[in-house]
Amino acid sequence: MSTETTTTRDALVFPDGFVWGAATAAYQIEGAAAEDGRAPSIWDTFSKTPGNVADGHTGDVACDHYHRYADDVRLMADLGLAAYRFSVAWPRVMPTGAGTVNAAGLGFYDRLVDELLAHGITPYVTLYHWDLPQTLEDAGGWAARDTAARFADYAAVVHGRLGDRVRTWTTLNEPWVAAFLGYCSGVHAPGRRDPAAAFRAAHHLLLGHGLAARALRAAGAAEIALTLNLSPVIQTDGGESEARIVDGLLNRQFLDPALRGSYPEDLLEIVARHGGLGHVQDGDLEAVHQPIDLLGVNYYNPTFVSAGPGEPAAPPFPGSEDVRFDPPPGATTAMGWPIDPSGLETLLVRLSRDYPEVGLIITENGAAFDDKPTGDAVHDDDRVAFLDGHLRAAHAAIAAGADLRGYLVWSLLDNFEWAYGYHKRFGIVYIDYETQRRVPKDSALWYREVVRRNGL
Ligand code: NOJ
Repeated sequence: MSTETTTTRDALVFPDGFVWGAATAAYQIEGAAAEDGRAPSIWDTFSKTPGNVADGHTGDVACDHYHRYADDVRLMADLGLAAYRFSVAWPRVMPTGAGTVNAAGLGFYDRLVDELLAHGITPYVTLYHWDLPQTLEDAGGWAARDTAARFADYAAVVHGRLGDRVRTWTTLNEPWVAAFLGYCSGVHAPGRRDPAAAFRAAHHLLLGHGLAARALRAAGAAEIALTLNLSPVIQTDGGESEARIVDGLLNRQFLDPALRGSYPEDLLEIVARHGGLGHVQDGDLEAVHQPIDLLGVNYYNPTFVSAGPGEPAAPPFPGSEDVRFDPPPGATTAMGWPIDPSGLETLLVRLSRDYPEVGLIITENGAAFDDKPTGDAVHDDDRVAFLDGHLRAAHAAIAAGADLRGYLVWSLLDNFEWAYGYHKRFGIVYIDYETQRRVPKDSALWYREVVRRNGL
């Protein structure tokens, strides 16, 4: 692939072979929660517990993608997408998380992959996008070491069925979120509020990544990836130490073990104060540090901090009690997240500098806005502007030397936005949840042109 980028006054072209696509995740779109042998995941349990998700929304029906996947693939083909990132639901494939394999559950992904390939769309599989089988949570969840080994077994099972057609395998999506929103702040499933359990979960997620990567490689997987939520941390008061604390917790806690085989020293000091390091066993970091081909970058916004005092209530950042998380300085999305494309360029350039051995792909970038249909259209100019700005930043990062190989917009469809339920719409395609009608938004039509031109 040529790494040349071309810029003229009115065109901005990405390198040849740059991968354009869209992303989703199983629990957020599939529905069919109790069909064909699927067992409950932690998100079924969590969303059905009153008070956890806005208006009691659940993923029971979601976008009904389980039944409408063929229509959705046709939609992707109409948009000219070259790649589609989706996740496999562990509780469909192995309902109790271990042991018995559910052939009907695997069959769904088998059909989906065939449908994608028949339309010339490359599948990018993510093995874990937060829907842990409830049975495994009952045995301790990610806070328990055994879950890592069970995850590697499950990865091998899925590869055994799809490995002849799927090249790129992502082990985990956003382990920071799974560990710290799931086990520390409790705003995500399983809803626990125990900082020490969250650090154990983070380590076991990393271990699961390493064991799964090893199993996938042994089985012949062509490309192995890990997707992290990464955010440049910007200190607004001229200091540096608070930004460093948060960068350690959010970014380097996962980057360093996976890509260098060690935890950052500053992070280890924090973990030592929150339950200790007894869960890190000899050999673990070698197991975590497997050669991977791609780092999946999920970028939404930078994080702005200054010197404390911080939040009195348990934040999702144990060890950051003296850090103040600043309100966004400018425009925000419907999530209240700052809009700052320059953060993407900073991040990509830093990753290429600090972890030069791994290729980069943006596995998520996008925004929620309060979209309203107008007849048969959805005029989401704000999303077009957001995506345009972030693609310009990605292009600038490539021009500055970042080895960025693709861009997958979050999300193909409006979907179940976790604790916010269906209230937040990230899709480039609008979903009318009453009728399940799909309406490509203006951003989808705009994105089709970007893909066609390989640029802006
Ligand atoms: C990252 C997560 O991977 C995805 O599931 C979520 O919907 C988006 N961020 C937006 O919050």
